[in-house]
Amino acid sequence: MVFSLSDNTNNVTIDSRYIIQCDNLVKIYKTKDSEVLALQGLDMTIEPGELMAIVGKSGSGKSTFLNMIGGLDRPSAGRLFVDGKDLFKMTGKSLIEYKKRTVGFVWQNNARNLFPYLNSIQNIQVPMIFTSEKKKRERAQQLLELVGMAHKKYNRLGELSGGEQQRIAIAIALANNPKILLADEPTGSVDKKTADYILDVFRELNNTLKTTIIIVTHDMNLAKKVNRVVSIQDGKISSEMHAKGDYKKRMAELSTFEDIHDEFTILDRAGRLQIPRELLDRMGVHDNKVRLEYVNDTIVIKPARDKEAI
Ligand SMILES: Nc1ncnc2c1ncn2[C@@H]1O[C@H](COP(=O)(O)OP(=O)(O)OP(=O)(O)O)[C@@H](O)[C@H]1O
Ligand SMILES: [Mg+2]
Repeated sequence: MVFSLSDNTNNVTIDSRYIIQCDNLVKIYKTKDSEVLALQGLDMTIEPGELMAIVGKSGSGKSTFLNMIGGLDRPSAGRLFVDGKDLFKMTGKSLIEYKKRTVGFVWQNNARNLFPYLNSIQNIQVPMIFTSEKKKRERAQQLLELVGMAHKKYNRLGELSGGEQQRIAIAIALANNPKILLADEPTGSVDKKTADYILDVFRELNNTLKTTIIIVTHDMNLAKKVNRVVSIQDGKISSEMHAKGDYKKRMAELSTFEDIHDEFTILDRAGRLQIPRELLDRMGVHDNKVRLEYVNDTIVIKPARDKEAI
């Protein structure tokens, strides 16, 4: 299959309210005999200092999106501005600088985060761009304390649990004090208690350092503990959930996701919305047509067959 791109984002300008702004982002992966449309016109804005989660089924484009922000992969079309820079236009030296200073990455796979033959404190120093050894050691020690791992600073990868390895991975990602921390399934291979602890570390970093944190996760339990959850379906945002009112107080009192978040369905730039499959099934919509009516300031969506029944 060949996808054609219509890119109407030429006139989009940077909005200074956002640290991340993406407009109509498209990513096509071309393999030998096929093309995969991993992102199909994703629009998203993220404010500085947000702690948010991205959820969605396997293959929906979550990692693709994170990799774009991380400067690890290039969009096929659309615009992506991060921290006032146009990522589309960034090349060579400036891209390397961006990856070192602006973003930090935590991967699900621990082997990708850590060097097995180095101990914890040495691992944290690897990406550091400070020139003096003394500064590196001091910063690494600070970060070990921040993630609660100072007592294991001389342990190597094999001597740490999965959760401990992830905490070191977070410290590594923070080595150069990035503005944005990207975490792809950071709790994918740890138990619930450890996942909770890791999320606490993220919340603490978000509170104290004001780092913007984006966590990709399958775990709705984890997602409910952040202020905004964006759900991606087929490479586009399908819905967003925002924490209601006094979030911390409610968190203490309530336990279900619905109690503490409002759910919104997202309209894209062209006014299109994606209706969740389960709602369509409940309505009995099994083809690609629905009827729209405007009744009492409300838009009503009905199955197309409704009229035939009248
Ligand atoms: N390098 C690649 N080459 C070809 N296709 C790819 C590549 N990377 C991802 N894809 C495809 O793009 C789509 C989105 O993949 P992506 O990894 O972003 O999904 P995901 O939401 O992170 O899934 P998961 O929850 O399983 O990690 C999938 O159909 C995937 O097969
Ligand atoms: Mg993924």
